[in-house]
Amino acid sequence: MVVLRLLTAGLLLSTASLASLTDLGFKRSVTGCGNDPDVALNTRITAKLPSGRTYLYWVPPNYNSQKETSLIFSFHGATKTPEAQADLDLLTTPFFNKNHIVVYPSSGEYGEDKGRYWQGAPQVPPDVDDVAYVLEILDAMESQFCIDTARVYATGKSQGGMMTNNLACDERSSARVAAFAPVSGSYYVNVTGTECVPTMLEFNCHPARAHIPIFIFHGGNDHTINYTGGPRSGECLPYIPHFVAAWALRDGLSDTPEFAGPLPNAGDNATLYRYGSGDQKDLVEFIYDGNHVDHQWPATIPNSDSIEHDSPPATFNASSIIMDFFGRYTL
Ligand SMILES: *[C@@H]1O[C@H](CO)[C@@H](O)[C@H](O)[C@H]1NC(C)=O
Ligand SMILES: *[C@@H]1O[C@H](CO)[C@@H](O)[C@H](O)[C@H]1NC(C)=O
Ligand SMILES: *[C@@H]1O[C@H](CO)[C@@H](O)[C@H](O)[C@H]1NC(C)=O
Ligand SMILES: *[C@@H]1O[C@H](CO)[C@@H](O)[C@H](O)[C@H]1NC(C)=O
Repeated sequence: MVVLRLLTAGLLLSTASLASLTDLGFKRSVTGCGNDPDVALNTRITAKLPSGRTYLYWVPPNYNSQKETSLIFSFHGATKTPEAQADLDLLTTPFFNKNHIVVYPSSGEYGEDKGRYWQGAPQVPPDVDDVAYVLEILDAMESQFCIDTARVYATGKSQGGMMTNNLACDERSSARVAAFAPVSGSYYVNVTGTECVPTMLEFNCHPARAHIPIFIFHGGNDHTINYTGGPRSGECLPYIPHFVAAWALRDGLSDTPEFAGPLPNAGDNATLYRYGSGDQKDLVEFIYDGNHVDHQWPATIPNSDSIEHDSPPATFNASSIIMDFFGRYTL
């Protein structure tokens, strides 16, 4: 009897993908509910995984172990740190976030100078699996805290935007993360042996779900990850509108936006593009940050990025838009 049931369960699991189980309302059970964690709230805490890698996390002051709480991953850029990313996205400040746990993963370190880069970057060996590292963090957080497994999100800047895209493109993580928001991403493709054509690049992207919500941001004056793409560090970067259109097509949408126009209440020709209609309305969104926006996290007040690039602040706060976007999606 038990054997039979196991066999049936095995059959069900092998025919239904993880994605369709999620679609059917299957929810992972979380062991962190009901246990008050022995950690300080509203404080940045560094934790260590059994694998030895660390991450930073922050729990909102109103956390209640009886209530499911959503979780946001935010990935730092190349050579940067989790602390710097938290100072940049300001998602641990009440202006942008009162209710969500935020996790800042920490990249591996490579070469003699211990350069900090993410999976998929030219500096990183091809066998590095940062997606597995992120899922290991998610498992650890779900065992410690009462996480709403249907409301896990990912954002990040530059190579952290690329890492956000890696999670959207990976079969394992795209089944556990509800929505994605890469900012000024470096979407490297290794085209060794062939020409770099930014408007025609093909991406290695295999999400577990048919409809991935993604909000992409990029500045028109990005001197680091050029909006028009091209060769960089021996690899190839896409023309950003081509990268956006590829996401629309992958999500089964038209690659012509349903809406394109000035971003409300913003200047510097910040432009909003929305793809998808009907049930998939606005599933893919893209903001051209503006003509003067360099390689920076868009904010109306100066931040470490705008100072580093000696660039004026943007005319909107990306963090507000990202939080609204995440709020629209659950697995
Ligand atoms: C890029 O591809 C080439 C050829 O397949 C390979 O030799 C090289 O290791 C790759 N580089 C990276 C960083 O993955
Ligand atoms: C981006 O690349 C284009 C084409 O090479 C170039 O004309 C433009 O000046 C570059 N933009 C920035 C901000 O570097
Ligand atoms: C913003 O304005 C510049 C200069 O007029 C133009 O080249 C660019 O195409 C505009 N960008 C968008 C997204 O409208
Ligand atoms: C952007 O965020 C800052 C807080 O980081 C806030 O002071 C400012 O008013 C916000 N700007 C807009 C346009 O909401």
